[in-house]
Amino acid sequence: MLTLVLADAELELVPQEVQGHPSVRAHARRRGRSPSAVLLDSSFHHPALRALPDGSRRGRPDIVHFFLVIALDSIANIEGQLETVVHTRHDQVLRCRPDTRIPKSYSRFVGLMEELLTKGAVPPEGEPLLRLESLTLGGFLARAPRPAVVLHEAGARHELEEVFAGRDEATVVVGGFPQGDFLHPPPGDLPRISLHGHPLKAWTAASEVLTAWRRSRPRRGPRTMG
Ligand SMILES: C[S@@+](CC[C@H](N)C(=O)[O-])C[C@H]1O[C@@H](n2cnc3c(N)ncnc32)[C@H](O)[C@@H]1O
Repeated sequence: MLTLVLADAELELVPQEVQGHPSVRAHARRRGRSPSAVLLDSSFHHPALRALPDGSRRGRPDIVHFFLVIALDSIANIEGQLETVVHTRHDQVLRCRPDTRIPKSYSRFVGLMEELLTKGAVPPEGEPLLRLESLTLGGFLARAPRPAVVLHEAGARHELEEVFAGRDEATVVVGGFPQGDFLHPPPGDLPRISLHGHPLKAWTAASEVLTAWRRSRPRRGPRTMG
């Protein structure tokens, strides 16, 4: 089983400090929601973000959207080999049931995340598909399967197939932010691995992990063409 973690993801509701900002109020009004129940999104709230600490990297639910679509539609997930986890800047950990169908439409995805962040689970009653808990990245990683590695552009250059070879389980951490470094640095004993000399998008790094995991699995019997 592979545990794939998107860490320090910039997923949050509009913080109280900017709920009264004109760009936030206008957007919330158009959507018929209270500003406190709207997802912070740099595409709509750019002027308000300038008033927030770390404003240049916050409000990026699109990164979480790409990540979840790639992970949950992956062959590793179809074959029951994947645990998909998102950790946010506010130390919330989102766990996804493997049969969750993430909306491909971004506006429907935003609605889903707003429901999750306000209610803590989706659906709020019964067995949830998506579940949120308060947990630090360090707390999650302390119990995560080993080996555990962190993808980092300044890490040592390695192929993930080498990390996964002969392993039944592993954990890989990918940063869920558009620029800069981890806000909550993963424990220093976890190796930092670079996949390429060029900086990659979080979803590109995640797709490389999923492909490497599959390639490193033993073949399940003869393959035939035609
Ligand atoms: C968009 S990057 C983070 C921002 C990046 N530090 C910057 O300032 O452009 C998102 C994540 O993708 C992964 N990543 C990006 N480039 C990588 C590389 N060359 N090798 C391995 N992982 C990479 C890392 O986990 C990183 O935290």
